[in-house]
Amino acid sequence: MLRSRIIGTGSYAPKKVVTNRDLERMVETSDEWIASRTGISERRVADGENASEMAAKSGKAALRAAGVSPKDIDLVVVGTVTSQMIFPSTACFVQAALGIRAGTPAFDVSAACSGFLYALDVADKYVRSGAAKKALVIGVDVFSRIIDWSDRGTCVLFGDGAGAVVISAEKGSHGVLSSNIHSDGRYWDMLYAPGSARSNPFEKTECASGFLKMNGNETFKIAVRTMGGAITEALEGANLRPDDISLLIPHQANLRIITAIRDRLKLSDDRVFTNLDRYGNTSAGSIPLALDEAVAAGKVSAGDIIVFVAFGGGLTWASAAVRW
Ligand SMILES: CC(C)(COP(=O)(O)OP(=O)(O)OC[C@H]1O[C@@H](n2cnc3c(N)ncnc32)[C@H](O)[C@@H]1OP(=O)(O)O)[C@@H](O)C(=O)NCCC(=O)NCCS
Repeated sequence: MLRSRIIGTGSYAPKKVVTNRDLERMVETSDEWIASRTGISERRVADGENASEMAAKSGKAALRAAGVSPKDIDLVVVGTVTSQMIFPSTACFVQAALGIRAGTPAFDVSAACSGFLYALDVADKYVRSGAAKKALVIGVDVFSRIIDWSDRGTCVLFGDGAGAVVISAEKGSHGVLSSNIHSDGRYWDMLYAPGSARSNPFEKTECASGFLKMNGNETFKIAVRTMGGAITEALEGANLRPDDISLLIPHQANLRIITAIRDRLKLSDDRVFTNLDRYGNTSAGSIPLALDEAVAAGKVSAGDIIVFVAFGGGLTWASAAVRW
């Protein structure tokens, strides 16, 4: 049986750090409020960089870690909702930047904070069907560009970042064991960012655009419920139990959401990876950025069961269980 094995990881975060103290000077908030309600201390903010540049840097690092030449990549899938253009896709820019062969399929998937796991799910299906042998899968977002920096209810939560994995078709028991993606469009207005191409080409108006909007309290409750269920689904799909989890890498939105899920699964702290204190919620960048840091910190060993779970605008949610 063919499986998608993760053979390399990479990540990239902009150099510019914005701390909670910096935000105190911008909106009516406090380091104490942000840290206690979210677990976030600081976040990175892109300074002139766009999503495809960040994605390419994370992709290059993943290729290097995997020891794979760009010429051997036969699929590029990028999860993002903050491309610098309506089209081409971020994936096409990444393809050109990294020298991935002309003719290789490259496309984006739009699932907000679930974007990386959506991209992984699609790439995994290509690999298992034999349609791709080595895929570059990236999650990237630049939410600093769609945040209202005068809205304390949202600006304290998000940051910019990118992460990537190279997956390779392998026979055996290592790789993606189960993967699930879901959405429920009825709840689109819980979390959204308006902005689109002009609806009437003869109207002399600029593209309508606006800032991210969120119903924080409701989103919090739905996130705990759906992510908890999605982890169970990933485990059942792989015939595993919560005890089998070596490391849970959840979407890094809010430490209180992660703690609620951890308690529900009765997992000890060392089996749940978090880095949101330093990055905030980087949307589609969140999980692959956390994975790359977990790998670099030596928290992932061959044979480990890694479970990913995400939640985001759409509403969307997703999970995957992987044997490293
Ligand atoms: C946004 C969130 C942190 C708010 O935390 P909360 O404990 O629910 O706080 P509330 O919204 O009830 O607000 C409590 C008070 O703090 C205030 N407040 C909101 N943001 C604040 C800030 N940055 N600084 C200080 N006070 C703030 C509110 O105005 C409110 O004041 P009031 O009681 O006078 O009305 C929380 O709801 C959350 O994390 N939701 C999920 C968001 C998320 O993860 N989205 C992305 C999903 S991918």
